[in-house]
Amino acid sequence: MSTTPSAPASLTRPTVPVVAAPMAGGPSTWQLAAAVSAAGGLGFLAGGMRPVERLIRDVESARQATQAPVGVNLFVPEPANTAIPAERSAPGSEARRRRAAEVAAYRSSLLAEATRLGVDPAGLPAAESLDPDATDGWDAKLDAAEAGAWPLVTFTFGLPSPEVFARLHAGGSTLGVTVTTAAEATRALEHGADLLSVQGPESGGHRSVHDPAADPGTTALADLLAEMRAAVGPSVPLFAAGGIMEADGVRAVLAAGANAAQCGTAFLRAHEAGTSALQRAALDQAAAGTHFAAPDGSARTALTRAYSGRWARGLENDFMLRHADAPAAYPEVNVLTQPLRAAATAAGDAESVSLWAGVGAARARTAPAAEIVTEILGVSPQ
Ligand SMILES: Cc1cc2nc3c(=O)[nH]c(=O)nc-3n(C[C@H](O)[C@H](O)[C@H](O)COP(=O)(O)O)c2cc1C
Repeated sequence: MSTTPSAPASLTRPTVPVVAAPMAGGPSTWQLAAAVSAAGGLGFLAGGMRPVERLIRDVESARQATQAPVGVNLFVPEPANTAIPAERSAPGSEARRRRAAEVAAYRSSLLAEATRLGVDPAGLPAAESLDPDATDGWDAKLDAAEAGAWPLVTFTFGLPSPEVFARLHAGGSTLGVTVTTAAEATRALEHGADLLSVQGPESGGHRSVHDPAADPGTTALADLLAEMRAAVGPSVPLFAAGGIMEADGVRAVLAAGANAAQCGTAFLRAHEAGTSALQRAALDQAAAGTHFAAPDGSARTALTRAYSGRWARGLENDFMLRHADAPAAYPEVNVLTQPLRAAATAAGDAESVSLWAGVGAARARTAPAAEIVTEILGVSPQ
């Protein structure tokens, strides 16, 4: 196990116990991260799917905007994910051949979608070009974290090797891992994690199940937290994520043993968020109960692999319903659907684009991020 001598309390136990979750794909801007950290919470930059040069610039911009620390989250690509059995990820293995065939079949099923959205079907990435081992610039991002002494780095989608933890610890970083089960938590600590982000099934966005072939768990966040506490003991800092929108949610997870509430959906409509106009409009509709709404007034969300090949929760739309059989193949499916999502966004078609959001989506408020922090805490703005 490799740990920093003492991970700074300002990172692992923010005085204002609200963490703005990293949200890749646009919502997490440096302005949002800096605003939340400046308000006493902990802001995050989302390094997943973001070119390293832009991420480095974002880190610098956040540093200039606030002296308070900001975290950086990275997606763990398959070649760096120790949770995937070697025989399944070996190039040329039976598992890899089956996966490639499933991706090719899924590509065929998307040709009609392409035509419908005005995308030249020949412009969809060729099945052979889709690489399960694409790294999303992993090595360069680790180099940047080390060179820039990023104060807090968290890993999502899997568990890197102990060597990665040792290397970034030596550079001075505090390190976290998103976990969805007590077994994942135990292994993350063995590899060197200083803190854990415990992700419940209510969460918006991707489920960070370490083995992407495993089904995501359904244990509600409060129970999951109790399991985690029992598994990891009293001293490991835990951030709790999933469906937390207001003060009662924060109180509940703090009472269940968390050190802070990690909120994503609650910040999707923040002024500083980079959330697309299309997704903001969909969230408005969910809030008004006019669309993406369940009979009880909550948002209608569901888990899907249709857009990315990994289970993720979003506002339930037609594309998800049409492609309930999408294969477990991230990042190939994510690359494959990219032109379709771009065309749907350009056309304002909210039925064919991922609208990641958690179960509290109908209660996300439009306001400056600092105000959302105080609202989540239940403190009235001055
Ligand atoms: C739009 C969106 C994008 C997300 N992107 C990431 C990400 O890049 N990295 C990550 O660790 N978690 C990501 N998440 C999950 C959050 O970290 C967190 O688990 C989740 O937002 C908590 O549930 P809530 O949305 O109900 O608050 C994302 C969530 C959303 C809604």
